[in-house]
Amino acid sequence: MNYQWYPGHMTKAKRMMQEDIKLIDLVIELVDSRVPLSSRNPDIDELGKNKARLILLNKSDLSDDKANAAWTEYFNEKGFHVVKVNARSGAGLKAINGVIQEACKEKIQRDRKRGILNRPVRAMVVGIPNVGKSTFINSYAGKACTKTGNKPGVTKGKQWIKLNKQLELLDTPGILWPKFEDQSVGLKLAMIGSIKDEIMNLEELALEIIVFLVSSYPGALAKRYEADETLEPYEILKHIAAFRKCLLKGSELDTDKAAKILIEEFRSGTLGKLSLEIPTDKV
Ligand code: G4P
Repeated sequence: MNYQWYPGHMTKAKRMMQEDIKLIDLVIELVDSRVPLSSRNPDIDELGKNKARLILLNKSDLSDDKANAAWTEYFNEKGFHVVKVNARSGAGLKAINGVIQEACKEKIQRDRKRGILNRPVRAMVVGIPNVGKSTFINSYAGKACTKTGNKPGVTKGKQWIKLNKQLELLDTPGILWPKFEDQSVGLKLAMIGSIKDEIMNLEELALEIIVFLVSSYPGALAKRYEADETLEPYEILKHIAAFRKCLLKGSELDTDKAAKILIEEFRSGTLGKLSLEIPTDKV
């Protein structure tokens, strides 16, 4: 699902989040591990203050392991619990339960002191569009769990997924909005495919990808397309077109088709596990 965000949408999303956050102990925030800063909206820090916080570095099948380790340290230092996951395959999800208990330790102890035993932790999933919120809820909660809602003692209109005795999850995720003000954020989201392609010039996007790969992952284009990485970006794109036999009538090179191939292979991990941001970046 893609969203067109306008100020009105953001205000509404914020209001809904403010309401939902009152009901929970823990915010489970998903980010795309290839762009952990560009795919998060720091407004959630204000909205979720006083709550336990867990960041899931999702799509870890597509991102650089070294960068993921650096991001884990970065967010840990800022007081977040962090787990690296692949919501699509389910990799890493098993570690979450233990981390949640750890993240909510204070709340559990507070409850215990007040004589409340075994009240489940309540959590909600949040994130900008396309980070994998629905995929995560489906694979983490699965089909086995029971949904509860509109029962006495359960907030009216809210559906909770009871995962186990210790954890209940709000079944609809909170949607955050991307940080549009920053040009580089929009570009990175376009590169990973979180912004609709129709609004992008594909050749320009492919050239940005080439510039990024040559500087951050030298050798990737040479390995996949036998490209000479010392050439100008447009010459590299032309080389990819020739290498992949993307030809128009009259044997003219079809750089548009080559751009599509490059973009698809970049996004799908075919060119390797790639991270567009590392913690030292200024974003
Ligand atoms: P959202 O609710 O946050 O908007 O995201 P959603 O779950 O719809 O996921 C957006 C896309 O990201 C989906 O792909 C989904 O399969 C993919 N995705 C989610 N988690 C992971 C992950 O850990 N690794 C990888 N590689 N992909 C992930 P799609 O192409 O839109 O749909 P589909 O091809 O899965 O049908």
